[in-house]
Amino acid sequence: MSKEIFETLPKIPTHVAIIMDGNGRWALEKGLSRLAGHKAGTENLREVIEASAEFGIKYLTIYAFSTENWNRPKEEIQGLMRIFRTMLDRELNNLHKNGVQLRHIGRLDGIDKKLQKKVHESIELTKNNQTLVLNVAFNYGGRDEILQAVKHIVANGVNVENLDDAQFEKYLYTAESPDPDLVIRTSGEFRCSNFLIWQSAYAEWYFTPTYWPDFNKKGLHQALVAYNERDRRYGKVKQVKGK
Ligand code: IPE
Ligand code: IPE
Ligand code: MG
Repeated sequence: MSKEIFETLPKIPTHVAIIMDGNGRWALEKGLSRLAGHKAGTENLREVIEASAEFGIKYLTIYAFSTENWNRPKEEIQGLMRIFRTMLDRELNNLHKNGVQLRHIGRLDGIDKKLQKKVHESIELTKNNQTLVLNVAFNYGGRDEILQAVKHIVANGVNVENLDDAQFEKYLYTAESPDPDLVIRTSGEFRCSNFLIWQSAYAEWYFTPTYWPDFNKKGLHQALVAYNERDRRYGKVKQVKGK
């Protein structure tokens, strides 16, 4: 990790969510395979997670595999599953030691049974950690999440007469996390790609052209600086001093 000193900022978002995009282009520009890009995209993750905790972020959500990513070539999908498993094996102890509580959002069905087991064990091991909650969005889709919520509500016979935002959110994968304050997307794409579509209704968005494998502590700090310049109004009018 770089030894640079980072300015302390007045506002730190409680929950930061990241669309880790651009692994493929990072690799192709270097004459490497897309999978080499995905591997590289796990190398910087430790730095970003540790920096998040250091900056005082309490929830970090990372988009690792979308419900639409099943439409990629079979070899790439298998490679991504392998990389995710290797990453868990490699990082779990370190995450646990650093007080990171691991959670999964999305669907575990459809994923290799051994990987499912590994995910369950990791969640169990870290469930009492308090420094940082790390939500891993793997096989996650925002539309799928909302549909699942609706199905549960119907199946549970909930009285929809009184259904409000707060009650609905209890059925989302993120029921235990506050809404994201800041969503970061790397690689210069300006879209949400089915990520946290309900939860990010009032999030601040930050886009950077940096490809994910090159995104680091400094990049995260720049996103936080931009966040500090935002004025979150939630539909109200700006408060003017003295008025
Ligand atoms: C993001 O990188 C990782 C996943 C979607 C799994 P991409 O693989 O989308 O990289 P680009 O967008 O093709 O460069
Ligand atoms: C979003 O990136 C999903 C993840 C980062 C896991 P994609 O690369 O799949 O999104 P699109 O296809 O460019 O919208
Ligand atoms: Mg992409």
